Amino acid sequence: MLPTPCYILNEKDFRKNLEIIRSVEKQADVQIILAFKAFALWSVFPIVREYISYSTASSLWEARLAMEEMGNKAHTYAPVYSDKEFQEIASLSSHITFNSLSQFNRFYQQTKEYNISCGLRINPEFSEVSTDLYNPCSKGSRLGVVVEKIPNQLPNGIEGLHFHTLCESNSFDLEATLRVIEKKFGHLFNQIKWLNMGGGHLITHKDYNREHLIEVLKQFKHKYPHLHIILEPGSAFAWQTGCLASTVLDIVENQDVKTAMLDVSFACHMPDCLEMPYKPTIRGAYEPIKDKPTYRMGGNSCLSGDFIGDWSFDKELKVGDTIIFEDMLHYTTVKTTMFNGVTHPNIALLTQENELKLLRKFGYEDYKSRMS
Ligand SMILES: Cc1ncc(COP(=O)(O)O)c(C=O)c1O
Repeated sequence: MLPTPCYILNEKDFRKNLEIIRSVEKQADVQIILAFKAFALWSVFPIVREYISYSTASSLWEARLAMEEMGNKAHTYAPVYSDKEFQEIASLSSHITFNSLSQFNRFYQQTKEYNISCGLRINPEFSEVSTDLYNPCSKGSRLGVVVEKIPNQLPNGIEGLHFHTLCESNSFDLEATLRVIEKKFGHLFNQIKWLNMGGGHLITHKDYNREHLIEVLKQFKHKYPHLHIILEPGSAFAWQTGCLASTVLDIVENQDVKTAMLDVSFACHMPDCLEMPYKPTIRGAYEPIKDKPTYRMGGNSCLSGDFIGDWSFDKELKVGDTIIFEDMLHYTTVKTTMFNGVTHPNIALLTQENELKLLRKFGYEDYKSRMS
């Protein structure tokens, strides 16, 4: 019996992704680091470290995690830094990217004490991402500096540029983005040492053309051999590496709609399904078919919209059945909330030896200690 609710990371699939990422890193001769914002299950960082040594942090706490659990200083980028936290962030970072020139000017002196390589996030005003919520280049975006705000001579102390414009994207999207970046910011390349190409490279997707990515990166490096190239994907690490297992607790019916009430919540445990929005895959279920038992999946929070539907099954569902939501590791595990005080899913690892290892169980104290 699965200890539901439970996120289960499949070690074999996780290692497969890590192998792919390491192989791209080697072949393209670039550096690939893990974005904690997408995946921060630190109990499995010892596995990650067999393949990849560095990570990118987007806050003080992620930078601490980099130091404590990856054993290395972080490449840090946050949309904004505060006076209160900057000193500690600096002590935990090897690279710090600033979102604006004003933030760079405010904190540059402090970075000198820690020998930090400073960078500036640029906004090329070009992105192939169609969902506005995930498009950092939408009109008036607060993320990154647009070209007309950057002087032809970068301020002394800026050693790198950073862009992040992709989301679950392919190598052709990167290629198109690079064309724009070169056109708009190419005149600055001889003033910098590194270029961080952000995340959103879904390198481990089955249809991702990795040969093409390697070719694009190699050509870019050939043109600018002095530039150290960094990629910081998050999703690609945990893509298709596990599930959220849940149990049917009740079945309710209202005007021909049957809802399977689960011990998980879309709002609390799979927030991207409502945010993005997207319909997740359920193992053994399919798109609604007439005459097949068909259900909505209902979350256990009180939010009216905490449901997604519909799915058909071969058999009628009953209380006690297991419902497995596929591909629920990247972002979901970091974005979960304890809204409504609903029981938080366990976190488990399905090892290469097929043993289910419980990594974390949450209790009332976890809920209580988040508030006072
Ligand atoms: C600056 C930055 N880097 C990296 C990432 C990771 O992106 P992904 O998980 O899509 O690869 C993100 C995601 O929002 C980001 O904002």
